[in-house]
Amino acid sequence: MNITDRVAMITGGGSGIGHATALELANRGAKAVVLVDLSDNVHEVAKSINEEVGADIAAGFVGDVTCEKFRKDCFDQATDKYGIPRICVPAAGITRDALSVKLDKETGKANIYPKETFELVVNVNLVAPVYWALETVARIAEDRHKRGAGRWSPDEEPQGAIVLIGSVSSQGNKGQISYATTKAGLEGVASTLNKEAMYYGVRCAVIHPGFTDTPMVRAMGEEVIQEHVLPYTQLKRLIAPREIADAICFLVSNSAVSGELWADAGWHPPA
Ligand SMILES: NC(=O)c1ccc[n+]([C@@H]2O[C@H](COP(=O)([O-])OP(=O)(O)OC[C@H]3O[C@@H](n4cnc5c(N)ncnc54)[C@H](O)[C@@H]3O)[C@@H](O)[C@H]2O)c1
Repeated sequence: MNITDRVAMITGGGSGIGHATALELANRGAKAVVLVDLSDNVHEVAKSINEEVGADIAAGFVGDVTCEKFRKDCFDQATDKYGIPRICVPAAGITRDALSVKLDKETGKANIYPKETFELVVNVNLVAPVYWALETVARIAEDRHKRGAGRWSPDEEPQGAIVLIGSVSSQGNKGQISYATTKAGLEGVASTLNKEAMYYGVRCAVIHPGFTDTPMVRAMGEEVIQEHVLPYTQLKRLIAPREIADAICFLVSNSAVSGELWADAGWHPPA
């Protein structure tokens, strides 16, 4: 699918992988990149992208991706200003790491990972990306109906592409019961959407990044990175966000690719 002249919706666009993806799509000729984030920083990021490409194509929206009204407003405003978003990368995500069950040896009591925390991570990392993806499919479906277009045919250009951000943790990672659950869940989302949304010409893929040099990973601390991450990657370094952005653009633009892409720097954690 052509990136050129397409409108892209990127959540988590104020930082890390979302920021790098927006910049890469802009450099590859996207008509507009709409960046969504909880943080006000998203406006600065949009400004810096506009300066880099020399055109007013990036816009920032501040809000919570789990809010349905905010999601619909973002799509309405983006569509009014630029056209229907046909590329969607819902990258906003959080970690809330802790052991699933931790025994307090003093009291003999086993503490279970808090359910509220689990639900928070599920809402941000799984439910929200699903609904930003569904909103993209819905807008494209409504547009096709309005134009009298029925089932998508291979004579047409692909109509849209969604790239969900999984993780190497989707295979299981100590201390990440909630995070790993959400990232594994995205695989079921993508394979279902691939079966359903192709009716409207929309593809869906998952990328599973390894440890990437973003604030999310830096928050783990240098010692953890040096001792528990780098020794288990073949590259022996963190992945650059632009390397993940490049792989995301590949998934968007190459319609022959379906399913999952592992961009993990050769991550082989110990058991
Ligand atoms: N960095 C990595 O190593 C890595 C590896 C695999 C997958 N990922 C995934 O990539 C995505 C981006 O991660 P990153 O490393 O760039 O992290 P990051 O912390 O740099 O960026 C995440 C952004 O999401 C935003 N966000 C969080 N909750 C939000 C909410 N409710 N509404 C709106 N915005 C919200 C944050 O404000 C932040 O700007 C996440 O889904 C993450 O799970 C990251």
